[in-house]
Amino acid sequence: MSQPTTDSATEETAESDDRLIETEVSVSETVTQPAGASTIIDVGDLSVYYHDDQALRSVSMEIPERQVTALIGPSGCGKSTFLRCLNRMNDLIDAARVDGTVELLGQNVYDDDVDPVALRRRIGMVFQEPNPFPKSIYDNVAYGLRVQGKADDIDLDAEVERALRSAALWDEVKDQLDKSGLELSGGQQQRLCIARAIAPDPEVILMDEPASALDPVATSKIEDLIDDLAEEYTVIIVTHNMQQAARISDKTAVFLTGGELVEFDDTQTIFENPADPRVEDYITGKFG
Ligand SMILES: Nc1ncnc2c1ncn2[C@@H]1O[C@H](COP(=O)(O)OP(=O)(O)OP(=O)(O)O)[C@@H](O)[C@H]1O
Ligand SMILES: [Mg+2]
Repeated sequence: MSQPTTDSATEETAESDDRLIETEVSVSETVTQPAGASTIIDVGDLSVYYHDDQALRSVSMEIPERQVTALIGPSGCGKSTFLRCLNRMNDLIDAARVDGTVELLGQNVYDDDVDPVALRRRIGMVFQEPNPFPKSIYDNVAYGLRVQGKADDIDLDAEVERALRSAALWDEVKDQLDKSGLELSGGQQQRLCIARAIAPDPEVILMDEPASALDPVATSKIEDLIDDLAEEYTVIIVTHNMQQAARISDKTAVFLTGGELVEFDDTQTIFENPADPRVEDYITGKFG
């Protein structure tokens, strides 16, 4: 596990220097971050077990800031497990045991002094099935800010509007903010869930197949939205849809059965010139 956190600028610089060196040394291993962006989440030797079954095998990966990283691979290869490790959602699964480190801007999220609830506001999550609360549209979005105790100090109306605009939903709901979130269409509900995740101003948004329950028009809106979100946030998205990964992501990580990360690189490289023949087999198999 990593160092306890420190405010010392010197130590932080030393740590990031270490990471730079590591990146240079391990370029040929193809599982580190491609050059060109700073790292926001640095995953080190992450293994996950459910009881005695290993679901992830020593995964190391540097996730770039303000880009879209797609996680692809066959069913059961550990994509959702990996995603849940990043904001400690696996804490909620009794059978799960996590080994290794997940550093968010240099701090290991598994350190004892990290509050998982606060962490989940910094690393928000959107699930496959839209799951708005049975509350008004307004209250869905305001929820995180109220829980944070921020509601009295900020202009809540303005923050709700900001989040709904960022989620490309404002124009459709601005005159019906009191309506229940459950009365929206599936695609609107998913954008509401994205607005809810954005409202506390997270650094990272995790999405687990966010469009797989939606029709093509709603899916395309979500894809456009993800592209916009990456200007402000880091987006990490699991998708079964190869074309979607190719369309929307900057980087792609390929997991294969057994929970191994086999390749992580620029999306274009993964789809056009992967280093590992298993990646090519997987991608061509799915396309063909
Ligand atoms: N709560 C759990 N308890 C026990 N085993 C689990 C649990 N969640 C996942 N697993 C197991 O861990 C492995 C990885 O599952 P995971 O859901 O992460 O895969 P995935 O890549 O997201 O699959 P899919 O594409 O089908 O969503 C699988 O073998 C799965 O059966
Ligand atoms: Mg999954």
